[in-house]
Formats: sequence, C-alpha cells, structure tokens
Amino acid sequence: MHEKKGTVQHKTIIEPFKIKSVEPIRLSTESERTVLLEEAYYNPFLLHSDDVIIDLLTDSGTSAMSAEQWAGILRGDEAYAGSKSWYRMRDAICDLTGFEHVLPTHQGRAAERIIYGMIGGEGKVFISNTHFDTTRANIEYSGAEAIDLPVAIGRDTAAIHPFKGNIDTEALQEVISERGANNIAAVILTVTNNSGGGQPVSMANARETSRICSENGILFLLDCCRIAENSWFVRNREAGFENKSFRAIAREMFALADGAVMSAKKDALVNMGGFLALKDKQLAQECQNMLIITEGFTTYGGLSGRDMEAIAIGLDEVFDPDYLEYRIRSTAYLGENLHKLGVPLMLPIGGHAVYIDARKLYPHIPPKEYPGQSLVCQLYLKGGIRAVEIGSVMFGKYAANGELIPASMELVRLAIPRRVYTQSHMEYVIETFEQILKERNAASGFEIIEEPRFLRHFTAKFSPVLNGVVHSERVIY
Ligand code: F0G
Repeated sequence: MHEKKGTVQHKTIIEPFKIKSVEPIRLSTESERTVLLEEAYYNPFLLHSDDVIIDLLTDSGTSAMSAEQWAGILRGDEAYAGSKSWYRMRDAICDLTGFEHVLPTHQGRAAERIIYGMIGGEGKVFISNTHFDTTRANIEYSGAEAIDLPVAIGRDTAAIHPFKGNIDTEALQEVISERGANNIAAVILTVTNNSGGGQPVSMANARETSRICSENGILFLLDCCRIAENSWFVRNREAGFENKSFRAIAREMFALADGAVMSAKKDALVNMGGFLALKDKQLAQECQNMLIITEGFTTYGGLSGRDMEAIAIGLDEVFDPDYLEYRIRSTAYLGENLHKLGVPLMLPIGGHAVYIDARKLYPHIPPKEYPGQSLVCQLYLKGGIRAVEIGSVMFGKYAANGELIPASMELVRLAIPRRVYTQSHMEYVIETFEQILKERNAASGFEIIEEPRFLRHFTAKFSPVLNGVVHSERVIY
C-alpha cells in the first residue's frame, strides 16, 4: 500500500481491533494477595484466575478470538465422521504446511505423545534447539533421551543477535556422529524457541538443519506453534525475505521439514486444539492408530467441530500483516520499557514473551533457592501479575546425592496473550517492576516442600527460605 502525501506517520502501533466483548478484572489488594499466595503454596499455577489482575502465565489458549472465529463456532459441524469443519481445518493446514497427512489432537502435547511415543523409546535420541517441557517429558516418558543444542549465544541473555533461537548445527553433526544416525529418532526445531527465550530461528538455520537431517536419513520436524511470529522475524531480520509475505516465509520453512507438531493454542488464535502433520504416509497411518485409541476418530481427533472451524480461521488471521506487526511490536514495547528501567532481561525481545533474567535481578539468591520463583511471587504480591518461572524449578534435576543440578538460565517469562491486553495494561506491569526493583534486595529465596516426578512446576509446593532456614524433608510423588 502506498502512503498518500501528507499522511501522518504515527509512532504508536495501535491494537488493530476494536473490543466487542469484555471480561471484568477483579482488582485485589496486596494484603489480600499475601494470603492468597500463601494458600497457593507460592506457586501461581495454584491460584484462582479470578484472583489475578494481569495474567501473563502463558500465551497458550488465552487468545481473544475474533468475531469471525466466534461466527465459525456457530457454524461448527459436530458430525462424528467427515465433519465439514474437519475438512476446513485440514485444508487450511495442508495449504499452510504442504504436509498431506493431518491428525487433529486436543492440544500440542497430545500430538507429541502420539509421534514421540511412536518413534521414541529406550535407546533413541531426540535433538532440538530446545525441547519445550512437554516435548521433553513425552520423549523421556517413552524412555528416549532429549538433547538440547541451542547456539551458544542463545544462552547469553544480554547478547544481541537476530536469531538466538537457532540450533547449533556443528554440535548437531557431532552428536549425530557420536550417537549414530540410526539412533536419532528426530531433530525438532522449535520455532520460535520458547524455552530458549522466545527467540526466532532463521531460515538459513532451518535449511542447514534440513540438509544435515536428509544427509543422515533423520526425520526433521518443526514444533511450529509460533510459526507466524517466527516468520515476522525472518522477514524483518534475514536478508532476502523483505518482500516475501509472512505466509510464504512460513511455507518455505515447512517445505524444509518432514512434518510438524502444532499447539494451535498459540498462533492458531484459539483456546484449544493442536495437530500433527506429516509427509510420510506410513508414519501417519501408524500415528492414526494411536490417535483413534487415545484421542478420537481421524476426522476430529481430540476436537469438537467448532474448535476445528475456529482453528481454520485463526490460521489465516494470524498472518495478517497488521496483526503481526502489532503483536511483535507490543511485546517489544513492554520489554524495551523494562530494559530502560534497568530490569535485566533476554535481548532482543522475543515474539510472544519477555524473559526476565532472575539470576541477575536477584544475585543474592542462589539457584538452589530458585530466584525465578522469587520474582514470580513478587510480581503477584506487588501487582497481581501472574508469570511463570522458566529456570531451575522447570528444568532443574537432582544429582544422585540429592543436590539440585540447576538449569542453565533462571528466567521468568511474561507471556503476552494474543489480542487480550492493551497498552495501559502493559503500563501497569511496567509500574509494578519499578516497585520490584526498589525492593530487590529484600526478596528471599524458596525451597520446594512437595513435588511430582514429572513437570513439577505445575503443582510443586514452595516455602520461603527465611533467614537461611530450610526444611529438612521434601515429599516427591
Ligand atoms: N511446544 C511448544 C514450543 C510449546 O510452547 C507448547 C506449549 C507445547 C509444545 C505444548 O502444547 O500446551 O498445547 O500441549 N506451551 C505452553 C506455554 C504451555 O505456556 O508455553 P500444548
């Protein structure tokens, strides 16, 4: 579109939508929240959402759907077999990904369980730029091993690089030679790299990964739940893509892979859904058996007709240039303002979230006392803001002697739901950080008093470590 002469060049990127339906927020006080947090054992996953003012726990399933998607909800065809909505969803996915075989699942991890359960197992190895937690859990649950090979610069939160989400392709080649190509079940490129700070992956990196995989006969999959956001970064940061549409860029990346797993709860702009899409017919057929046993018949899997209709529409809307521009720029707005305040964070700002470096914010709290959990609790106490720790609570392991092996980074993620919050909500978050910075020296660490064996961050119970006093017992179930 050509700008007319005299057109105002606005600085403000406005939300490219009007609000048609609103959801009230209950404004709680700090003293109320002090009690609520203690009752939730200092784990924000255990809070009632009604007690949260700004919910930045996740960008997953929290999108506001468009009027068009809600209209699609009414049109949803709930037939058990051959639903019109299924064909709409399937066609939208085939058209975007180029993969012929699509399996609808109720969310991303169901697709992960099916494919990784199928190709995983004892002795198998999976390699990724960084496995998301459910991905790793599904792989490990199958008995296989999950190896993360992010580029080294991706672990340096302060370093500026356009594609910190890339996989280290040299290390990839080394691991393949060490372990033997036959033992590698798949290479998974997570775009954008969620656990690695929401950083994008370049097309060049995807191309090189694809080359290495095909040379070695290894299955190459995309974990593509934020593929539209990744495409924004490719177009804006990688030479040669300036004039390509976001959709064309996404298609180009899919064309390099053998299949994709998607949690539609992100870039398909819906509240529930996912899919597995594969090039290979035989692998798809094997997965279909598992789909029918554990999710549902092939033309709905784990979804209702209305969900499938909304996914088909969302997969189209998400590539709208005005939406993507607003989406990436509004996340950057929050991050850049926090950076100006002096909050240590992952730079450059990723697509769906701002990642705070809690180890740098609270240098007096050692990793074994979970500095990220401290920040998450401070955010709730001071502002009623809910965020998630992505550090040693989520990824820490125990050595044989029971000592914690910390994660490589202690991050806290402020994930921005799509089309939900306005700029004034973000101003409120920024003000809350001003307070947190003032009181940073007074923040204390936490210990875990109860935890499950898998994905402990969801349900673990914490207790503050006050004056260095630590409980002696920890219950593991
Ligand atoms: N892969 C990635 C990269 C993800 O971010 C997620 C979910 C999944 C797979 C699993 O999908 O939730 O639909 O089963 N991420 C959410 C988050 C939970 O908060 O980042 P799911």
